[in-house]
This record gives sequence, C-alpha cells and structure tokens, in this order.
Amino acid sequence: MDCMETIRKRQSIRKFKKGEVTQDALLKILEAGRLAPSGKNSQNWHFLVIRNRELMEKIAAAIVAKNDEIATAMDSKDREKGDRFRKFAKNFTLFYLGAPVLIVVYATDYYPTGYHEYRFAEYPESAIDKLFQRNPGMQSIGAAIENMSLEAVELGYGSCWMTGQNYAADEIEKVLEVETGFSKEGYFLACMLAIGIPEDGAKSPGRKDLSEICTFID
Ligand SMILES: Cc1cc2nc3c(=O)[nH]c(=O)nc-3n(C[C@H](O)[C@H](O)[C@H](O)COP(=O)(O)O)c2cc1C
Repeated sequence: MDCMETIRKRQSIRKFKKGEVTQDALLKILEAGRLAPSGKNSQNWHFLVIRNRELMEKIAAAIVAKNDEIATAMDSKDREKGDRFRKFAKNFTLFYLGAPVLIVVYATDYYPTGYHEYRFAEYPESAIDKLFQRNPGMQSIGAAIENMSLEAVELGYGSCWMTGQNYAADEIEKVLEVETGFSKEGYFLACMLAIGIPEDGAKSPGRKDLSEICTFID
C-alpha cells in the first residue's frame, strides 16, 4: 500500500473479529511506534502490551467502577446526563475487550524548550503554562500512536486509539501495578491502543474540508 492509501484506509475499529495479532505483526507495529519522531528525541513513551484476557477484564472493571462513581455524582444534578456518561464508557471504552491486544501507552514528563530558561529568569507561571498548552510531550506520543495505527492497517489489522478512559487512569495504573507489578518511575498512562482483526462495516465520521482547516499565505 502506498502511504496515502494506508492513511485513507485507517479508521477507528471498535468491533473485532475473533483471531490473534501475530507476534511478528505486533513487533512490527511496536517498531513503527519506536521509530516515531519526538521532541528533542526524548522518546518519552513506554508501551505496555497486554494480551492477558483476565487483566483486560480487570482494567475494564476499574473503568466501569470509576465511570459509575462519576455518573452517580452527576445523577443528583441531572439523571439524564449521568446515564449518558454511563453509556459513554460502554460505547467508547469497553469495546477494547473484543480485541486480542491492548497497548497501554505510558508517557513521561517532557519539559518544553524555554521551560528551564523561564524558570531561571523567574517568568510568571502563566508563561510557563502556555508552554505546556502546546504540550510537545503529548505531540510526540501522538506521533507514536499514529505510526502504530498505520502500520497495523498495513499489516491487515485495525485499531482504536483511546483516551476516553483516562478519567480512570489512576485506577488503571493501580490495577496494573497490583496485578502485574508494572509501574515505571515518572511515567503515567497517556492513552490505550486496542488492536485486532477489524470487523467489516466500521463507519468513520467525515472530515472538514481542506478550505476550512487550511490557510495559504503566499
Ligand atoms: C487522541 C484520540 C483519542 C481518542 N479516544 C477515543 C476513545 O476513547 N474512544 C473511542 O471510541 N475513540 C477514540 N478516538 C477515536 C476518534 O473518535 C476517531 O479517530 C474520530 O472519530 C475519527 O474517526 P476515524 O478514526 O474512524 O477516522 C480517539 C482518537 C484520538 C486521536
């Protein structure tokens, strides 16, 4: 496939056919992530690859529990809004249980260029906050995830990049630490990537027209 064809073919996959991702393919997908560019070549990621069903279920239970806690707190103000949030977890998070592979992507803090200089020169916090608003650390993570998503397509798989569950990030990290002993000093859960064999018929939303998102200045 040429690059543009792969880009066009990629879509978020939330339904997966039965079947594994081969070890060879998984290593190629991870290699695509490894080769991504990152701010100051910091490579500020760590990929935790999960293929253990029981562990995936435990992560799901942590998400559901946190989702329910938030939804219940919302109920007293507006039951409909609480219920809508309950459905969010079901439709946009728990589907990963249908995938054979879940990559939990950890990131470590990244200090944007200018951060130490601003601190040294005692610039106001608002100036420092603005540096983080552009968040190069997360931009780097995005590059790695997109590389992996595209390589997955290239190899005949599908994936879904997920941040929706991040309201339960602390709880998921805790599950992983308690169940597997995994934790990495200074790293935090940034997103998850579910990978598997795509079920046919996935529908993607459209995109804005180029004229809406692009300005040329000659
Ligand atoms: C940073 C990011 C976070 C996302 N989080 C979720 C998520 O938590 N759950 C989900 O179902 N889709 C998630 N998506 C997928 C988007 O909804 C999807 O990319 C978008 O609707 C466009 O559809 P397409 O990927 O099929 O082209 C996420 C995508 C990105 C880039």
